[in-house]
Amino acid sequence: MGRFYPDSKVEIQGLSARFYDNLLNTASLGAYSSFIKKAIRQMCIAPDDAILDFGAGTGRNALLMNSYLSGDGEVLGLEISEEMLIQFQRKTENFNRINVLDQRIDQPFTLDRKFDKVFISFVFHGFPLEIQKNILRNAANALKLGGQFIMLDFNEFVTDETPLYFRIPFKIVECRYAFEYVERNWKQIMSEFGFGGFTEKYFLRNHIRLLTAKKESNETSYDIPG
Ligand SMILES: C[S@@+](CC[C@H](N)C(=O)[O-])C[C@H]1O[C@@H](n2cnc3c(N)ncnc32)[C@H](O)[C@@H]1O
Repeated sequence: MGRFYPDSKVEIQGLSARFYDNLLNTASLGAYSSFIKKAIRQMCIAPDDAILDFGAGTGRNALLMNSYLSGDGEVLGLEISEEMLIQFQRKTENFNRINVLDQRIDQPFTLDRKFDKVFISFVFHGFPLEIQKNILRNAANALKLGGQFIMLDFNEFVTDETPLYFRIPFKIVECRYAFEYVERNWKQIMSEFGFGGFTEKYFLRNHIRLLTAKKESNETSYDIPG
């Protein structure tokens, strides 16, 4: 499958997808495991939450979220990479309340039910602004009123003001969409899609943020396409 956004680095395929979890563990010298556990703990998952995971990856996050759920909760991943879908299915095969669909998150879609939480982890920064707005619209459509959009991703910052130990790898590893993403005011943009009641938790010396936004309205100032 070709890439929709050739300048993006979140359309992960091939060997990088097949060894994605190992690559993160190795690149972070083992720190990623405890970081992601800590971040997911901060999502305050209720036992009966229905959670939609946008760009779900290997299923690692789905399993962590599932550990907070009772038999009434569920995690549904949306993913497009064949290698990621295979790993997700393999990792979660013994959990009938965790499932994954081969579904793009950047184009309109409809599901047969509404969710309490939409989680998106290290995916959002990798798209152009108009596509990020499509993703926000899709999240708003998929959530119950009062449900939460929870984004784990880079914080907002001026890249050239960040310390070198962060700036150099960020500039080497990330794409131009990420450079634009970090300099935008996301709470303001999200409010145009009916989100409010924002809370933020920070990690890695404030360079990573878990942003929670509540769906407060069914109205948005953007038309739904199609
Ligand atoms: C950087 S990885 C993050 C994976 C996972 N969320 C995590 O935190 O481990 C980005 C993921 O988004 C998926 N992805 C990229 N574009 C997508 C799209 N348009 N629709 C659904 N998934 C997408 C990729 O296949 C990949 O699994």
